[in-house]
Amino acid sequence: MSYSITEEDEKIAREQTQKKLRAVVSRELLPNGSYAPVPGIFDIAWKGLSELPAYDFLKSLRELDNDIIKSREQWALRCAPMLERGEFTFEQMKAFEIHAFKFTDLYPITIARNVFDNLKNREVRDLILRHSAEEMGHSELQADFMVDGLGMNRLEVWDAVQLGNSSGRAGFFGGDSSEVTELRKDFPELSYAIVPFIERVVPRSMRMIGNALRKQYGFKDSMLGFFDLHSYIDIYHERFGAYILSKYATDKRAQELFITALEERRKNEAESHMNAYYELKAK
Ligand SMILES: [Fe+2]
Repeated sequence: MSYSITEEDEKIAREQTQKKLRAVVSRELLPNGSYAPVPGIFDIAWKGLSELPAYDFLKSLRELDNDIIKSREQWALRCAPMLERGEFTFEQMKAFEIHAFKFTDLYPITIARNVFDNLKNREVRDLILRHSAEEMGHSELQADFMVDGLGMNRLEVWDAVQLGNSSGRAGFFGGDSSEVTELRKDFPELSYAIVPFIERVVPRSMRMIGNALRKQYGFKDSMLGFFDLHSYIDIYHERFGAYILSKYATDKRAQELFITALEERRKNEAESHMNAYYELKAK
């Protein structure tokens, strides 16, 4: 008798077990055995938000965020318009990607730190853990571009120093503002929700950057996995934030704190890109 697992074993175990489990737990089951924390949240054109109590707040928030993005578009879009114009030299692109890499590299941790404030809320806890796991490896995809496309060596990428005084350790686009600290204390779901909510701009900026890198700079598809992946994955990540906001942001003070925190986060994000841009243009 052999104790080796065969391909047939894998096929039968996965198909049959998933079928059985789906009959008792109506959630999406991944091959690794984990569940999507909210049923349907990964479906194309999912509309599962509209019945939730703070859905109108979410809608107004998306409008507000659109205006914020529009008001400083080139920075909010991670300098995509500059790349579309072919404005960056190879060396400037390297410096900018190193700057951005440091944020990507810390991102799973930026997300996961929120889990300790949300241990009592099972679905939020699970959304955080799933989100964090899905960001794992994205910085390696970004490093692939810097190695294969920009000719860097991987250790050089990992150890590179960011532009300006940005400290990656301060967290994603700066540490917590007083509003985020207050949210963390009284509305911990929302101090997490701001993280996936701001990802809503990423599919567009990454699609623009991917296309610009092809057209203006001649990079091949095989080098652009990081940008192509983000042309869709953050559609789902925004939904993690949108779901939590629609369900939990019913309190007036929570809504006001969230708006201020969002404005602050968008400002930090834009300034980070803007400062990096001017610094590398001055080189
Ligand atoms: Fe994401």
